[in-house]
Amino acid sequence: MKIGVISDIHNNIIALDRVLDYFEENNCKYIICCGDIIGIGPHPEETVRRLMLLSNLICVRGNHEDYLSCTMDNMPFPAKMKPGEAMYHRWEHSMLSEESKSFLYQLPRERSITISGTHIYAVHYSIGSSNTYNTPEKNLTLCQCEHMFSNIDADVVLFGHSHKNSVHQNEKTLYINIGSLGCPSKSKNMARAGMLNLTEGKAVFENVELAYDVSAVINEIDRLNYPANNEVKQIFYGL
Ligand SMILES: [Fe+2]
Ligand SMILES: [Fe+2]
Repeated sequence: MKIGVISDIHNNIIALDRVLDYFEENNCKYIICCGDIIGIGPHPEETVRRLMLLSNLICVRGNHEDYLSCTMDNMPFPAKMKPGEAMYHRWEHSMLSEESKSFLYQLPRERSITISGTHIYAVHYSIGSSNTYNTPEKNLTLCQCEHMFSNIDADVVLFGHSHKNSVHQNEKTLYINIGSLGCPSKSKNMARAGMLNLTEGKAVFENVELAYDVSAVINEIDRLNYPANNEVKQIFYGL
């Protein structure tokens, strides 16, 4: 059985469509998403709507879904967040329908599921003692994965947040950081995702990198001219 895995879509509906079509071609029975559906990119409502239509979606929230509380519940944005970034979040939240906001708001922080005898744990990133996500490591080692998820008993641990994909395995657990689907960074024109193949109680991971038209996304960022879009293009699209 194949399972499509994605993370950090970041409002990039063009890359998401490319990956979901690929999962359909490969008969993925489920799709697991590790959060950061919104944030950064140009198409919040379209991206959330596309995910909401999936009947086979298993999804957790990320820090960008947590920021919804800042506009929905009048909570303060994190103190370290730059004013332009907070302006961006206000803009993107204003683009979301009530239905989409409700969908994002009710997402759990973690999911543990057993599929074909394989115990899978999905989370945006490891959660620290203050109940916030730990600072993401760009170059994770197996030892760091074991430490980060030392309290998790699973065959497969799926996560994202750092936007850098990695795969590590010990005798018990496969640790997979899926990387970012929607932020190509300097590896231009590529949407990143993965597929888990579960056969006879064994999980095998396959990296998925699919070319798509990033310039169409940049054109949309320019057309919408939303807050902090120049920083977005520079930091997350490698321009
Ligand atoms: Fe992210
Ligand atoms: Fe994140």
